[in-house]
Amino acid sequence: QDIQVTIVGSSNVDITALMARLPGPGETVLADSYQLSPGGKGANQALAAQLAGAATEFIGAVGNDSHSAIALGQLEDAGVKLDRVARTEQPTGVAIIQVDSAAENSIAVISGANSTVTAQAVQAAGAIEGILVLQGEIPASGIKAAMDGATQRIVLNLAPVIELDREYLLKANPLVVNEHEAALILQQLDGSETMSTEAEPVIAQKLMAHGLASLVITLGANGCLVAEQGSGIQQLPAVKVKAVDTTGAGDAFTGAVAARLANGDDLVQAAEFAGKFAALTVQAHGAQASYPRSLQNL
Ligand code: RIB
Ligand code: NA
Repeated sequence: QDIQVTIVGSSNVDITALMARLPGPGETVLADSYQLSPGGKGANQALAAQLAGAATEFIGAVGNDSHSAIALGQLEDAGVKLDRVARTEQPTGVAIIQVDSAAENSIAVISGANSTVTAQAVQAAGAIEGILVLQGEIPASGIKAAMDGATQRIVLNLAPVIELDREYLLKANPLVVNEHEAALILQQLDGSETMSTEAEPVIAQKLMAHGLASLVITLGANGCLVAEQGSGIQQLPAVKVKAVDTTGAGDAFTGAVAARLANGDDLVQAAEFAGKFAALTVQAHGAQASYPRSLQNL
């Protein structure tokens, strides 16, 4: 089958400690348990896109180490195309994650092999098929090279927010970000000293005024805002669920949006579906481990 969605991005092994509450600076807390599981925003989005019904390829890099098998295992099982994942001297990326009993988390990423996904590596990988999906966990040069090679629309989840030239930011269609990232990107585009504290719809409006084709701002339990050039801003409500772990929920959303766009949905339809898809994932621990293997309840 032809590839419908290509994700160029990061893959990690997530080392997640579950604990009653997160430690403060300088503090030690005893955690209840830990898990080693596949993660990385790029790989998470690739799994989500595949599970949401698009033939998906993941292009990235892992190390020549035992973590690589964990990082890619679920993608392989789900049938994501992995032929162009590079093996590098750098170790497989690792994310150190802490999750508390209120589903709050903190994440530190050690990029390792992901830092080798540069312009050179992306160009060497060759042609990009289908909708392109990108995040902020690979070097900006790799993101730009992938955008230059894209033949269809580009879904940009700039998480974390990294420095990206305006002309590249404006290639996003949609830009998918949470409220904090949206404010940071607006600050970047405005060239402002301070981050906006305005309400999300105002931030959305201002981002769109910079010339974005479309934008989705995810608002967690409050759903999301969808904006498209020429048709204003819509707020979509969230499905009410009890969250135990939101790690990777944004990635599930982004991957699902791309999959539905690839299958002919418009952006509002795609975001509606993705909201339900992501809501399922916050009800179980882990990122990829919590992604729905069946679309029956969606
Ligand atoms: O978005 C969640 C992801 O961020 C985790 O899987 C972790 O690997 C970090 O990249
Ligand atoms: Na989860």
